[in-house]
Amino acid sequence: MTPYGMASQSQVKNQQLWWQSGIIYQIYPRSFQDSNADGIGDLQGVINRLDYLKWLGIQAVWLSPIYPSPMADYGYDISDYQGIHPIFGSMDDFDQLLEEVHQRGMKLILDLVPNHTSDQHPWFLESKSSRDNPKRDWYIWKDALPDGSEPNNWLAMFGGTAWEWDETTQQYYYHAFLKEQPDLNWRNPEVREAMMNVMHYWLKKGIDGFRVDVMWHMVKDAHFRNNPINPDYQPHQATVDQLLAVYSTDQPEVHDIVRQMREVLDAYEERMMIGEIYLPVHKLVTYYGENGSGAHLPFNFQLLNLPWNATQLAAAISQYEGALPEYGWPNWVLGNHDQPRITSRVGLQQARVAALLLLTLRGTPTIYYGDEIGMQDVPIPFSEVQDPQGLNMPDKNLSRDPARTPMQWNASTYAGFSSEKPWLRLSSTYRRLNVESEKDNPFSMLTLYKRLIDLRQKELSFTAGDYIPVYSDQQILAYKRTHENAPAFLIVLNLTHRPAYFKPEHDAFKGTIVLSTLPEEEGQEVDSYFALSGDQGIIIRLH
Ligand code: NOJ
Repeated sequence: MTPYGMASQSQVKNQQLWWQSGIIYQIYPRSFQDSNADGIGDLQGVINRLDYLKWLGIQAVWLSPIYPSPMADYGYDISDYQGIHPIFGSMDDFDQLLEEVHQRGMKLILDLVPNHTSDQHPWFLESKSSRDNPKRDWYIWKDALPDGSEPNNWLAMFGGTAWEWDETTQQYYYHAFLKEQPDLNWRNPEVREAMMNVMHYWLKKGIDGFRVDVMWHMVKDAHFRNNPINPDYQPHQATVDQLLAVYSTDQPEVHDIVRQMREVLDAYEERMMIGEIYLPVHKLVTYYGENGSGAHLPFNFQLLNLPWNATQLAAAISQYEGALPEYGWPNWVLGNHDQPRITSRVGLQQARVAALLLLTLRGTPTIYYGDEIGMQDVPIPFSEVQDPQGLNMPDKNLSRDPARTPMQWNASTYAGFSSEKPWLRLSSTYRRLNVESEKDNPFSMLTLYKRLIDLRQKELSFTAGDYIPVYSDQQILAYKRTHENAPAFLIVLNLTHRPAYFKPEHDAFKGTIVLSTLPEEEGQEVDSYFALSGDQGIIIRLH
C-alpha cells in the first residue's frame, strides 16, 4: 500500500526537531498543583511536579494562561500580557519554572491570546474612553443600525450577540467570546506591533514557543457581512452554531499575521508555534502557511470530534495525511481544557485504545493533564458551575468545568493537589484513581501511558517513520509504522467492546506483541489472522 504524504515523511527523517519527536503535555495551571494552600494551582506547584513529567517522558509543557486577568474566562481574558497573576505566583516563580524545565531537558510553551484582551486591559480602557482616543481603533467599534440594533448578526461563542453597546461613546464593540473579552482589531498595524512586542518579551526570557489561542479568529471580514444561517443546526448545540462563521473567522488576511508571528519566532533559535484552530482539514492545513511560513503545528482536533468508529477514523487519518503539505508536520490531540475528557467520550476501556492511537500515529501528540491516569469528567452540581460557557447556556450542559478538575496525585485529602478545599471539586474516585496508586500497578492507565511513551520515544519508526494504513472494518483499525531499517510495527486497535477478527487481505506478516491494553497478551507471537478481545489494542514488532 502507498504511504500517504511521502515527501514530508522522508524530508524530516534525518533532522528531527524537539517539537517533532517529543510529546507535548498541557497543564491547566489552576488545577495541577497548589503550593500555597489557597485551593488553586500555581507555578511553584508545577515546579514541584516537574520530576513527574520528566519521569513520564514528555518533552514540552504547555501552560494555559498564567497572566494577570479578572478571570471572567479563567485567564483567557488577559489584562497584562507581560505579568504573572498573583494567584499563580510572581515573575521570579516564572523564571524559576523556566529554568527548572530547561534543567530537565524539557521545553516550556506559553499560551498567547492575541484575538482579544480583557475589558480591564489598559488598552481597552483607553479605547472605550472616547471616540477620538488614539487607541479607539485598536478594538472593533461600530455604529448601531438605524433602528438601534447590532451592526450585524454575529453571535458570541458563549451565548447571545457578539456586540456590546457602550453607553458613553454610543457605539457597539465586537467580542467573539464574553463581553469581558473585546476583540482586538488586527487590521490596525499598532495592534500587530504591540502583540509582536509581547512575543519578543517572552521569547527573550527564553520560552520555547506559543500556543496561539483561536488563531483562525484574528481577522474578520472587512465589510462585516452577516453570517449565513447554519442549515444543520441542532438545538443541543451552542447558540453560536446557529450561524456559519463564514465572515467572522478564517479570513485570508489572517495568514499575513501568522506569517508575521512566525518571523518573530524565527529570529530566535528552535522556537515553535502551535495554532488553536477548529476548522475542517482542508482549511486547517492552510495554517502551515505558504512554504511552511505559518504555524509549526496547527492543532489537529479530529480525534476530539469524530465518531469513535474504526472506518471513520481510518478515513480521517488518511485524509489528514493526504492533505498535509510537503512541509507540514502532523500532530494529534486527544483532550484539552475545552472538551469532555476522552474517558467520558469513549469510556474507560476505549480510552486505553485511544492512548495507543494517540501515541503511535505519525506526528506530535499532545496529552491533556490527567488523561494519563484516566481522569474522567467530574459531575459538577449546577450551584458550583464556574465556567461562563456553562453558566450562560445552562440548559445545554456545555460547562467545561468537568474536564478541569484538580489533578489526582494520591489518596490523601484533596488528592495531594492542595491542603485546602480546591477551587473545583475533585472526582469522588480520586482515592483509587491517582498517580501514586497507579504508578506500580501494571494494569493501570498510567502504566500504559508510561510504557507507550517509552516505546514511542525509543523507536524511530514511531517518532520519524511513515504511516501506512493496513486495514479497517467496522471494528478494527490497523496501520504500520516503518522507518528505513529500524524495527517496523503493526498497530491493531479494536474500537468496539466485542471480540473482533483481524484479517488483512494482502499483508502476510509475523511478529511479536510488544505492548497490549491487555498486558497478559504481551510476548505472544502472531501472524496474519488473529482474534482480538473487545477493547483491545496491540502493538506488534514485525519480524
Ligand atoms: C480558546 C480557549 O481554549 C478557551 O478556553 C477560551 O475560552 C477561548 N479560546 C477564548 O479565549
